Amino acid sequence: MSFQSDFNCLWCGRPYRTRTDSDLEGYALLCPDCVGRAGENEFLRFRLKEGLRLRGEAERAPRTPDKELQVYYAARAGEYDDWFLRKGRYSRGAIADTAWAADMDTATLWLDAQPLSGEIVELAAGTGWWSPLLASKASTLWLYDINEEPLEFARQRLVAHGLAAHIHVRDAWAEPDRQVEGLFCGFWLSHVPRARLADFLALCRRWLKPGGRLAFIDSRRDRESSAIDHPPPENDLSVRKLDDGQTFTIVKVYWQPEELEAALLAAGFTSARVTTTPRFFLMGEAVAAA
Ligand SMILES: C[S@@+](CC[C@H](N)C(=O)[O-])C[C@H]1O[C@@H](n2cnc3c(N)ncnc32)[C@H](O)[C@@H]1O
Repeated sequence: MSFQSDFNCLWCGRPYRTRTDSDLEGYALLCPDCVGRAGENEFLRFRLKEGLRLRGEAERAPRTPDKELQVYYAARAGEYDDWFLRKGRYSRGAIADTAWAADMDTATLWLDAQPLSGEIVELAAGTGWWSPLLASKASTLWLYDINEEPLEFARQRLVAHGLAAHIHVRDAWAEPDRQVEGLFCGFWLSHVPRARLADFLALCRRWLKPGGRLAFIDSRRDRESSAIDHPPPENDLSVRKLDDGQTFTIVKVYWQPEELEAALLAAGFTSARVTTTPRFFLMGEAVAAA
């Protein structure tokens, strides 16, 4: 038996849903109470050992590109904002860092000027850099990310601003369960492989009510965007390092504005418009067709 996120505990029979896709409970198929009582009973002890064995095997297995992306961002959560703030390995000297700050101001003002309102969903929200701005526009803001680790920073950021949002672990590829007025993704489209862009934009369209708005901000290719010890990206793949030396290879596509505009129109959006800052960012807006 392998990992299950939804199961009835093999000992007490209670239904249980894991919080993440690597929780020991999902490998042992025991609820947390029964895991906690494993010392008391041979069957529980056996299931716990089996769970540890299966989780170890899963951790050693080669990762899919989606899993590599997920694991990378979970591990990076505590140092993610260094990239925005040009700290440590992301500082590229006074001149480049000033250009970055100017581009960041442009992107932020662009987002602030977007006519987003009503219920807004933010996919792959990460540490919530854009979330206070979105929360100030939304009647209700929903933050989703596949990893809990960055969402905890997003929660703290919103609390610090005296703002609120519904924050949940959710795969950006999961089918929408409702339609909303606004959808935002920051630095996520560049992690959508080329072959899956049409599918992802169609999913964005399904998130929106007719007339609803999609907005996104993403990366342009610039050698000074990434950390000083990252090799140049090749073939839509980037090698990324963390402060502790861990290395990951992730999908990172540097889209051209025209290709995104064409893909948005093909996916059921109207008035798709993608612009750029001088060096580092692209910004896109599109309205869901009726
Ligand atoms: C580049 S970060 C962007 C974070 C944030 N939107 C921003 O603008 O800073 C990418 C985020 O995607 C999340 N992620 C990776 N795979 C995902 C998936 N399949 N579904 C949802 N989020 C995912 C990561 O945990 C990470 O927080």
